[in-house]
Formats: sequence, C-alpha cells, structure tokens
Amino acid sequence: MIVRIEKLVYNGYGLGRGEDGLVVFVPYTAPGDLVRVRITERKRDFAFAVVEELLQESPHRVSPQCPHFGQCGSCQWLHVEYKVQLQAKEEILKRELKSLAHAVEPIEYGPSLGYRRRALLFVENKLIGFRGFRTNRLVPVGNCPLLTDDMNRALLVLYRFQTMLKRAREVWMGEDKDASCLLIDVSATAKVKDIHEIFHQLKETLETDVGLRIRYAGKRSRLGKDILKEKLCGVEVCYTFGSFFQTNRFMVESLVRKVLELVPEGGRVLELFAGCGTFTLPLSKRAKSVIAVEANKGACDLLRESAERQGIKNLNVVNADADRFTAEFSDAVDVILLDPPRTGCTPELVKAISKVNPEYVIYVSCNPTTLARDLRRFSNYSLVSVKPLDMFPNTFHLESVAFLKRTG
Ligand SMILES: C[S@@+](CC[C@H](N)C(=O)[O-])C[C@H]1O[C@@H](n2cnc3c(N)ncnc32)[C@H](O)[C@@H]1O
Repeated sequence: MIVRIEKLVYNGYGLGRGEDGLVVFVPYTAPGDLVRVRITERKRDFAFAVVEELLQESPHRVSPQCPHFGQCGSCQWLHVEYKVQLQAKEEILKRELKSLAHAVEPIEYGPSLGYRRRALLFVENKLIGFRGFRTNRLVPVGNCPLLTDDMNRALLVLYRFQTMLKRAREVWMGEDKDASCLLIDVSATAKVKDIHEIFHQLKETLETDVGLRIRYAGKRSRLGKDILKEKLCGVEVCYTFGSFFQTNRFMVESLVRKVLELVPEGGRVLELFAGCGTFTLPLSKRAKSVIAVEANKGACDLLRESAERQGIKNLNVVNADADRFTAEFSDAVDVILLDPPRTGCTPELVKAISKVNPEYVIYVSCNPTTLARDLRRFSNYSLVSVKPLDMFPNTFHLESVAFLKRTG
C-alpha cells in the first residue's frame, strides 16, 4: 500500500492515508513522506504499518544522529526537523483539547540533544540498552545523543566490566541539572566483586562526583555520593538513587518558574504528587503555606530533610495516597497543584479537588490525552491557559502546565 504521511501524532507515529482512505499509523516517518508500507495490524477503522520503501522524502527530514535510531524505542522523531516536532506537539495538544484549544500558549523549548539526565537502561547478555519501539526487545546502546555526556561516558566505563554486566539486569542513572554529580544504581542477580574498580574508573573518566550503588538479593553496596543536589529558582532540591525527577536538565527550571508564576504570592497551597519537592521547595518561598502529598515514603523523607536543612517552616509533607487524602481534606486552600503520573487522575480525585474548592487549580501533565480528559471533568472551573514545554525533544512526549480558575 502507498501512503502519504500527513502529520505526526501522539504515541510517535506518522499518520497517513492509503488510496482507499484507510488511516495508517507508520513509525519513523515524517509529514510529507510518500511511503510504500506493509500493514502489520489491521483494526476496524485504521491500521498499523511499517515502511517498506521511502518513495519520496519529506522536506522536513534530517539525518538522525544515532546508529540505533529506528530500532531503539527511546526516541521516535530524531529524523524530523526540530521546529516541525515543536509544531506537531502544539497541534497534538490542541487536537486533544478540542474546544479548549484556544487556551494553548506557544511551546517553550531548549536544546534538543544531551538533555536527558535520568534513564533506566536494561542489561541482557552483557549488553546495556533501551527497549525497542513498542517491543520488549533490548536494543544495545553504546552512546545515546539524548543522554548527558557524563551518562554516555559512564556507559562506556560499565561496558569494560563484563563480569558485572553478566550479573546486571538494570542500570539506573541520574545526574543533577548542573552536571556536577552522577548517581548510578545497578540491580544484579548476584554479588558484583569489582565495585571498587568500577567506581574508581568512573571517577577517573567522569571528573564529576559519582555515586555507585549495586543491589542484589536485597543487599546494597555503595561507594561515593548518594544525593543529587540542585538549585531550582534559588532553593535547593535533593534526589537520590531511583528518585523521580524532571528529566530535562535544560528545561527543569523553566517548568518550575512557570508553575511558580501561576501561584499567587502568599497563597495557601495543597500540592498532590509532590515527589522529592521539585515544585514544593521553591513554592514554599512564595506561598504562605504548602501541604505536599506524596505516596513514596523515600521521596517524603528527602523532601522533609531538604526543607529542614534550609529552615523552611511553612511546609507540611504528608506521606499518603493523593485520592484518599484529598477526599478527606477539609481545610481552605487557594491553590491545588497536581503533577500526576502519565495515567492522569481518577474522576474521584477531580471531584475531591472540586469539593475542596480552591480558587485555582494548576495541573502539570506529561500526557496531553489524559490531561484533556481530566480538564473536561473540572465542571466548575474554566481553563485560563495551557503552556506546553518540550521536556522530551526528539520523542513524542509532551509536558504541559494547565491553569484553571474557579467559575462559581
Ligand atoms: C510525575 S511524578 C511528579 C513528581 C514531582 N512533582 C516532580 O516534578 O519531581 C508523580 C509523583 O506522584 C507520586 N504518586 C504516584 N501515585 C500517587 C498517589 N496515588 N498518591 C500520591 N502520590 C503518588 C509518584 O511517587 C511520583 O513522585
């Protein structure tokens, strides 16, 4: 079948139409490509396909700077001009929001390579890599253009230790935004004897602070650092091995600043899904009071320690489930800030937030589809603005900050 690709869509595919009008989703294509495809899966109204031959190349194609592109699932759009990716992301957000699309502001972005400072890699047969696009197959990676330089250098060091790789299953890496410290967490199936030598070579190669942790059978060995520290809008935020934190080192501060700008000075804030305090800690300087709710106990402990060390007294960290906590919450707050996982929030949580009745809701989302679904459920709020930020260049992922105001 011959297909002309019309646009890029959420989930990373190019969307085209066959001669019979059938909608076909084809990975690794660009708007304007004319491709001969092979259907891999046929649904009632559409199909998935793969390219058999590129008949006419889109003018928006660029040469992907990665030998693994096309197999590796960690980026989908490395072959598309960055400005076209940005346009596609704005359009995707508008399409998802439908009648709310008028609220979408221009997308904010930064450098498109070397930005990714947190990653989980997998190890099989002594090879380290990412999973393929929509498969479980390991794609071994020697160097990834999205990762920071230190992470790429660390990968090369790890490859020198074949005995360790034989036992390793996963490698988590995380770096502070200023690239001054890299933490590496290896999970293994048996004891790794050369931890000192691995650490020594990492230190020598990276010239930054390093923390190396190796875990197996419930035991942990660690050498070097165990905390990443960074200043966000003038306030120190800390993370540790395996913590969730914003992936894009160049854009994290813009994201935090965007959220802060929306919070009225001296306001009372309830924050749900707070993590280690990326928003919470800078927010505590602006707000009268912050209640931060987070399900992960380790993240809550880190957040409390960061607050104590900086003498922050107007913050109450609650280790709880966001739904349950909000359903029983009866204090008055001016703002509810939420940053849920990709699945978005439950209808019950939207109801509970509406019942708390804050003047403003700030919804940070990494999934435009669940964001659009959830925004439609806030019936007594109007959408003032949605700011897209490209936290994940060269991939289809998109972060947005939605700002809602109570109507009643
Ligand atoms: C997208 S992350 C955001 C973290 C933080 N706002 C940040 O930017 O670093 C979502 C967070 O929600 C937490 N979480 C997931 N489900 C939760 C729940 N049901 N209740 C409370 N927190 C939850 C996760 O542990 C994670 O820290």
